[in-house]
Amino acid sequence: MDGNGRWAKARGLPRTMGHRRGVEALRATVRAVGEMGIKVLTLFAFSSENWRRPREEVGELMSLLKLFIRRDLAELHREGVRVRIIGARDNLQPDILNLLEEAEALTAANQGTVLVIAFNYGSRDEIARAARRIAERVAAGELSAATIDADVLDAHMDTAGLPEPDVIIRTSGEQRLSNFLLWQAAYTELVFVPCLWPDFDRDALESALADYAARNRRFGGVSQEIAS
Ligand code: IPE
Ligand code: MG
Repeated sequence: MDGNGRWAKARGLPRTMGHRRGVEALRATVRAVGEMGIKVLTLFAFSSENWRRPREEVGELMSLLKLFIRRDLAELHREGVRVRIIGARDNLQPDILNLLEEAEALTAANQGTVLVIAFNYGSRDEIARAARRIAERVAAGELSAATIDADVLDAHMDTAGLPEPDVIIRTSGEQRLSNFLLWQAAYTELVFVPCLWPDFDRDALESALADYAARNRRFGGVSQEIAS
């Protein structure tokens, strides 16, 4: 979700207004994804690098997250959405951590769309934390170093048990991953759209998915037409 600040700037508004409108786009996207029967939606809500932003802006983003969970959790739960949080949990404000954990606990048994919120998330940090846990298990004699392979790493990621993303959509025209799901995105299709996040809606989602659907995924093999 990128481009909130530019959306606001283009209208002579403070960045916070962009973030507020961004939450509306987020609601619309979660709804559309549920209606379309998409199984997993991951939203990059706050990166481990976003703490570098001005204090007031960080505060506003935290307030918006709290507000979103307080206002929307009951409805998400009614709709069968299962919330899952990825990212580092240590050093988070206790009220934020409690809300995130409450959202996960309340919706844990739901069978609908999995809504993964990447909060205080950075891929390199996730991989380092996974490596640390694996090293601890080896040191404790629970795991032998010789058996560590990609599956073992995968099982220690925050995303353990979730499918790899088929497609990553980044708004605002920036064409990079910015430390998002680096491990998981080995074969993910990347779709970059010029639209700023507050303008993102169901139409924008459908057109990004049409772009994705036209791709020819080979996973390191050869395409069907060439093979036959
Ligand atoms: C994304 O919009 C907001 C989040 C951090 C979730 P930005 O704040 O990065 O907007 P730009 O890039 O400044 O336009
Ligand atoms: Mg940005």
